Amino acid sequence: MIPLKAPMQETLAAAVVMSTSWPRNGNFINPMCGSGTLAIEATLIALNRAPGLLRNNFGFMHLKGFSESSWRILRSRVKAEEKDRLKGRIIATDISQQAVDSARKNAMTAGVDRFVEFGVCDFSNTPVPDGGGVVILNPEYGERMGEEEELRTIYKGIGDFFKKRCQGYTGYVFTGNVELAKRVGLRTKRRLSFYNGPIECRLLEYDLYEGSRSSKAPNEIADRRLQIEKSKI
Ligand SMILES: C[S@@+](CC[C@H](N)C(=O)[O-])C[C@H]1O[C@@H](n2cnc3c(N)ncnc32)[C@H](O)[C@@H]1O
Repeated sequence: MIPLKAPMQETLAAAVVMSTSWPRNGNFINPMCGSGTLAIEATLIALNRAPGLLRNNFGFMHLKGFSESSWRILRSRVKAEEKDRLKGRIIATDISQQAVDSARKNAMTAGVDRFVEFGVCDFSNTPVPDGGGVVILNPEYGERMGEEEELRTIYKGIGDFFKKRCQGYTGYVFTGNVELAKRVGLRTKRRLSFYNGPIECRLLEYDLYEGSRSSKAPNEIADRRLQIEKSKI
């Protein structure tokens, strides 16, 4: 994993994805993707890919009684259970080109780059296709970077993005700053606690009820931008 500012541990990202209501066959939208950890872990989970498959050395292999042939059978059984396509779309965007470049490289290393649609844009312009699913953001929370005032505006913007663009989805914000989270301005349906290193964090869940979107145009524009970005690959 190429480290970027405030990246999430893969294990934490996997736990966060598994704690969402994502049904694995819906869309998984991850604006502010940073190094792409959440989107990559979501893809691995949806593909039913066993963790550690790219690793070929484990401590238990050096224990007395380890059976190389049983291990090989187990690995091939697990590989046979992998899926080779996804039903929903996995979209990961960030305002930073550098973040998206590293997310794409990390997805390549994990062998999932062809399943993730990457784009460079403000979170509010991220395409949110019809069909529902999960939209999850891990904004900066001021512990290690970011100015509080600027972040208040961003968190309020996330609430507006959820309301205007994400109806029919379940929204999530993963943050270590509950005061900033209040700026989202929506009622939480569920709150889960996690530790990101020493920082106590919350995964906040928001039900974004289906309603008439004020306009479809922003999604169409955002989708076109994503196509342009994809064609640059
Ligand atoms: C805490 S980091 C996300 C870390 C990510 N979960 C990971 O594992 O790498 C927050 C990200 O939000 C991005 N960001 C900040 N402001 C943004 C904005 N207005 N629109 C989109 N992305 C933004 C930053 O570039 C940064 O990559």
